Amino acid sequence: VLVSFSLLCLAHRAIAIEGFGNKEDYEFPENFKFGVSTAAFQIEGAWNEGGKGESMWDTYLHQHPEYTLDHSNGDIAADSYHKYAEDVKLVKDLGVQYYRFSFSWPRLLPKGTDNKKNKDGIDYYHRLLKELRKANLTAMVTLFHWDMPTPLMDLGGWSNPKMVDYFLDYARFVFTEFGDEVKIWTTMNEPQQHCYNGYGTNYFVPALESGGIGDYLCSHYMILAHAKAYRLYEKEFKPYQNGRVGITLDAFWAEPKNSIDPIDIEAAERYRQMRVGIYAHPIFSKVGDYPPLVRNIIDGNSRQQNFTRSRLPVFSQDEIQEIKGSSDFFGLNHYTTYLMSQPTVNDTWTIPSWDHDTFVRMEQNPAWPIPGADWLSIYPPGIRKLLNWIKNNYGDMPIIITENGMCDFGGLMDYTRVQYYNDYLYQTLLAMKKDYVNVEGYFAWTLLDDFEWTDGYATKFGLYEVDFNSPERTRRKKLSADNYRNIVMTRKIDF
Ligand code: NOJ
Repeated sequence: VLVSFSLLCLAHRAIAIEGFGNKEDYEFPENFKFGVSTAAFQIEGAWNEGGKGESMWDTYLHQHPEYTLDHSNGDIAADSYHKYAEDVKLVKDLGVQYYRFSFSWPRLLPKGTDNKKNKDGIDYYHRLLKELRKANLTAMVTLFHWDMPTPLMDLGGWSNPKMVDYFLDYARFVFTEFGDEVKIWTTMNEPQQHCYNGYGTNYFVPALESGGIGDYLCSHYMILAHAKAYRLYEKEFKPYQNGRVGITLDAFWAEPKNSIDPIDIEAAERYRQMRVGIYAHPIFSKVGDYPPLVRNIIDGNSRQQNFTRSRLPVFSQDEIQEIKGSSDFFGLNHYTTYLMSQPTVNDTWTIPSWDHDTFVRMEQNPAWPIPGADWLSIYPPGIRKLLNWIKNNYGDMPIIITENGMCDFGGLMDYTRVQYYNDYLYQTLLAMKKDYVNVEGYFAWTLLDDFEWTDGYATKFGLYEVDFNSPERTRRKKLSADNYRNIVMTRKIDF
């Protein structure tokens, strides 16, 4: 077994080198933060245990079992609620110093509001944090990774302006209760995926399909809620807790299909501004408001469609002051690249017909491998280009890559994942060493095979396999876990 394993490794090594040519021997700096990420709904399970309230994902999946590819839900997931101590050991075994996970809002506040707190939920996260401290691991905690408490979703979720206050109450409670133990926070995870796909389309829960209205309300109030939570921490907690607060944005790289055609170049930039700039520009630029391009497009389209007012809400001057600079780092989730071009009149493009605001044709390059979910094709230079775009637009702000990884359909000898991590990390190194982009850390997505939203358990992103057929949810190490550990320990990529 050992001999064939070594031969397979050697063969893979040869493929990796052949595929990408000679690599220079760059090293990650001593203080570079390596970590691994998870999210509550995707791993915890125990959906109704220990006083937890329902999240909108629990409710929706119970009502619509057909939503996920395998008709599954998050009731048990990887059972990390019970197996958290074992999971902390798995993190430790990767050699990383950081573990990024999310608090389940309805586990802490079952109704979403802070008048009723759940002692068992509070104790659970204290136990997890204690276990991390014992293992000498640093926690990075996300406040909102999509699992909105159902009673708040019933009131409209992020399309309701009042949600800003309820999030603020939740944040205040969390900073008070856990602020001595957690020194690095992200408020929101991927508001763009959440708002565009959940409020704009029906791809993600809450599946509101509001077509260019609810998605902008969601973005608007998530940005405000983030900024207000940041200011709250800055004023009332930072002086004695000394932590940092940021936000995690997602970004595919948008590559012009024809790299010298000005129309494709413009289409790609339009996509970046409409999907990334819409969040990043208010928070990270010196302006504190939506990018002018985004404002012009949505205002113009709204006028044309006979709306009395723009579908994109307006920030007040006071709000602009609160939003501007409201993040201590740029949290970045990146997975893949799309080719962008201008749609033609007879085009059969896949973007929902109402999304004429962005108006780009978005496709994958058939030359890039797609090992698992159809949206994820592999193009490692995309991460370097994206990091440079962020630097060019928002300056030298420290960037923490809070997620990067890929999915397949399973197996412990996950050579494609090994190569994915090697290549994406190498491109990150090039961005740091050659382009002087200020990348502070890198978190692999994800520790374990888990509940992958629309895919259920069908596609696998983990460094560790989980046997979802066994009641014990047995974990087993994949080859990519050893490879990641080797990178972390040596600070080098061994191609
Ligand atoms: C980003 C999301 O934050 C995470 O929840 C998800 O599993 C990964 N993308 C992979 O799709």
